[in-house]
Amino acid sequence: VGKSGDSTFRLLSTSVEEFKTAITSDKRDNFAKTFVAKANYQGLWPAVGYWRIKDHTRQLAGAITWTLSKRKPVVANLQLLHTFAAFRRQGVGRVLCNHFLKTVVKDGAEYWRVSAEVEAIPFYESLGIRFLGRQKSGCQLAVARVAGSFGGCMVDLQDPVIRAAVYKKGKGGCVEVFGED
Ligand SMILES: CC(C)(COP(=O)(O)OP(=O)(O)OC[C@H]1O[C@@H](n2cnc3c(N)ncnc32)[C@H](O)[C@@H]1OP(=O)(O)O)[C@@H](O)C(=O)NCCC(=O)NCCS
Repeated sequence: VGKSGDSTFRLLSTSVEEFKTAITSDKRDNFAKTFVAKANYQGLWPAVGYWRIKDHTRQLAGAITWTLSKRKPVVANLQLLHTFAAFRRQGVGRVLCNHFLKTVVKDGAEYWRVSAEVEAIPFYESLGIRFLGRQKSGCQLAVARVAGSFGGCMVDLQDPVIRAAVYKKGKGGCVEVFGED
């Protein structure tokens, strides 16, 4: 047991009630409300939380959820990610994304994908993720074959699964593919 004042962080699941309790009125927590609505709608609870433990109390710093496709090859879809306002820029998002990659590889995923809002792109790029195009919603799409790290993941538009995701007509597909004239 650490001295009073010491804090440690742990990955532990979070229920919707615990997640809601962590939302503050800071506008940077606005996305947390969308997180709750989407996770409720898609049945994604419990999520994986990253908790700060200090003096025997826990505080939720951030959370992540994903789904695995039923069809093969298994594609892991990073659905929702949020770092609460007080915990921004302390590596919480990075820990949660690395945990996502490690876990889905263990669970048999061959590919992963994420559809990111423009504001979150610099964060994902800092992890080594490369975006392939822009979707109708304005979000950008990244799809890659899994590897040990995001930067090491293979992103080849000739790969049939990656190609199909990027050039899909309709929902989720790209209206603009980067580096294509
Ligand atoms: C995107 C988000 C999850 C990042 O979480 P975070 O815990 O603050 O990120 P980290 O501390 O792990 O950041 C890692 C690196 O990403 C980059 N980064 C993170 N936030 C950034 C920002 N706002 N602008 C530019 N770069 C950023 C930095 O390189 C950072 O490293 P540094 O702090 O050493 O410079 C967080 O801003 C968030 O919850 N945003 C609202 C919800 C959202 O957009 N979720 C994604 C849905 S698509």
